[in-house]
Amino acid sequence: MSAYAKAIERRFGDGGPSGEGAAESDLIRRVLARKTVRRYSDVIPSKSLLDLLVAAALSASAKSDFQQASILAVDDPVQRAAIGKLFPAMPWIGAAPVFFVFLGDARRLQRIGELRGRPVRNGTLEGFFNASVDAALAMQTMILCAESAGLGVCPISVIRNEVDKVAAIVGLPDLVFPVAGLCLGYPQAEGHVSLRLPRVVTTHRNRYEDGALPAALDDYDRRRDALHSIPQEQQRSNAEFGEAAFYGWSEDKARQAAKAEGAAFPPYLRSHGFSFD
Ligand SMILES: Cc1cc2nc3c(=O)[nH]c(=O)nc-3n(C[C@H](O)[C@H](O)[C@H](O)COP(=O)(O)O)c2cc1C
Repeated sequence: MSAYAKAIERRFGDGGPSGEGAAESDLIRRVLARKTVRRYSDVIPSKSLLDLLVAAALSASAKSDFQQASILAVDDPVQRAAIGKLFPAMPWIGAAPVFFVFLGDARRLQRIGELRGRPVRNGTLEGFFNASVDAALAMQTMILCAESAGLGVCPISVIRNEVDKVAAIVGLPDLVFPVAGLCLGYPQAEGHVSLRLPRVVTTHRNRYEDGALPAALDDYDRRRDALHSIPQEQQRSNAEFGEAAFYGWSEDKARQAAKAEGAAFPPYLRSHGFSFD
């Protein structure tokens, strides 16, 4: 049996490929078993570890070597409290021992153009997208490195729902925007490995084909419900959608996405240097 088979089965439970024959890698085994952590002990990670994680994050790949990610550490208690207060439903934002904000930074390249006398317009869709991807890659690199150092983490994109206030607290100029925050600390409670969609849905060979989605989704909902069912009191927007007899992942995500969040983000970007042309 492959060294990874158990972890892959726990992650997908889809009976798909098990990594049979691949060489052993500690990193891959860790990634297969990784989980988001939202409760942390009081132990503060050392400054040297945090410096190391920032260096690792900024070692991520970057589109065209433009290097459009920036990382902002919020270690001022007043600023942390102000950010935490904006999101009472997610107390881990204010409580985590460490909080970073990963920024898409389309400003720096435009400034470099000015400094070199080569006008750059970086408020385009291309500029926004490249900066977003760079920041996301840097964040995920920090996530994996932090987890391998024994830390638990939780990305925080909900900060974009109050982007004006968050940007004011941390002083973001035009063309610099938060992709997500990141809570870090030593885990107090073990989370659980979150079952992913079966790979027949999320992988394709040579040609995109999603005909298997309806049946695979029903099967996934049942398997996921058997592991961690969503309590009846956590059904979303029951007043509008009604109480579901069976409330699986897909019902939950369809309800969540139907009530789209993030309305504050596009106007914020448009009034802070992005034209998206
Ligand atoms: C870009 C991004 C933003 C996220 N934003 C939040 C957030 O605002 N609050 C939160 O509690 N979790 C947030 N999460 C964590 C996801 O809910 C979590 O990754 C997902 O449920 C899958 O769980 P897993 O990471 O343990 O596999 C975010 C994750 C990502 C990648």
